[in-house]
Amino acid sequence: MGKIKPLYENMQACFVITSDNHIDSKHPFPRIPMSFLRRSLKDAENAEIPVDAYITVGDTTSRGNETNWEMAKKCFADCKPAKQIMLTIGNHDTWNDDGYEAAIEQYLKSACEISGRKQDKTYFSAVINGCKLIFLGTTSDSGCAAVLGGEQLSWLGRELEHAPEGKPVFVFCHQSLNGRHGLPRTWDKQEKPDRAPDEGGIGDESEQLADILKSHKNVFYFSGHSHMGLCGENMKEKEGYASFEKEDGLELINLPSLACGNHHGETDKMGIGVVVEVYAGRVVIRPRSFSRRRMNKKIIIRDRKPYLEVKLI
Ligand SMILES: [Fe+2]
Repeated sequence: MGKIKPLYENMQACFVITSDNHIDSKHPFPRIPMSFLRRSLKDAENAEIPVDAYITVGDTTSRGNETNWEMAKKCFADCKPAKQIMLTIGNHDTWNDDGYEAAIEQYLKSACEISGRKQDKTYFSAVINGCKLIFLGTTSDSGCAAVLGGEQLSWLGRELEHAPEGKPVFVFCHQSLNGRHGLPRTWDKQEKPDRAPDEGGIGDESEQLADILKSHKNVFYFSGHSHMGLCGENMKEKEGYASFEKEDGLELINLPSLACGNHHGETDKMGIGVVVEVYAGRVVIRPRSFSRRRMNKKIIIRDRKPYLEVKLI
């Protein structure tokens, strides 16, 4: 057990990232997901060096209604996990008994109340200590997938083009690109041989999005959605997939569910997310058990190390 502290000296930016928190009033024990979220927030708040942003990669709630968001707000209350808070939208956040439009309105209102940042769209960006952060989100009722649409994809291209040179760009989208991180096998606990190849992924725009992301340097794409437990190099060798993958220079990172159960992982434990540390010329991403307040060192992520270290170009 110990506080979050940098791996190296002279850290330029630090982000704590969790996904699939699934706050839910209809959970058999609603206090369980609330407690996992709260513990991650407190762990970030107690970090040795102030965290620049606390970020979720979607499905903060299970139902996207006022009751769920009020419960989420309670977790964030009286707690300063980071200088800024950013909440990516997930498919569950768009599901509300009153329909998609009502869910989006609830998400925008709640995200603003939690983060203090005014948002009028499901996608937005920010620059923190020279690093560009881009948050993508569906613009229509699209089931488990996401529809970004031409306007958002063009905006993404421009955001990447204008990102500071030699600095990392962090892109957050609830759904991973189709077929990555073991999809569609890893979409659910139960493997089904007849799953469509795009199941569990972002959907029809996957390759268009991949091409845009790959046309820029130093891009890190974070997703959640499948609730795949943390998988490293050993799983990559054995089964061909991992939570940390690389494709034509694009880093793909899939986060386990913080509080809703996981499967297909080398560890299926909950309470896990990542800490991102930015240094001059490199990025370090370390899995952390926020509930146990320690870095996860059992799983080999890349180059036989229990973390991912990427040199920037
Ligand atoms: Fe989820």
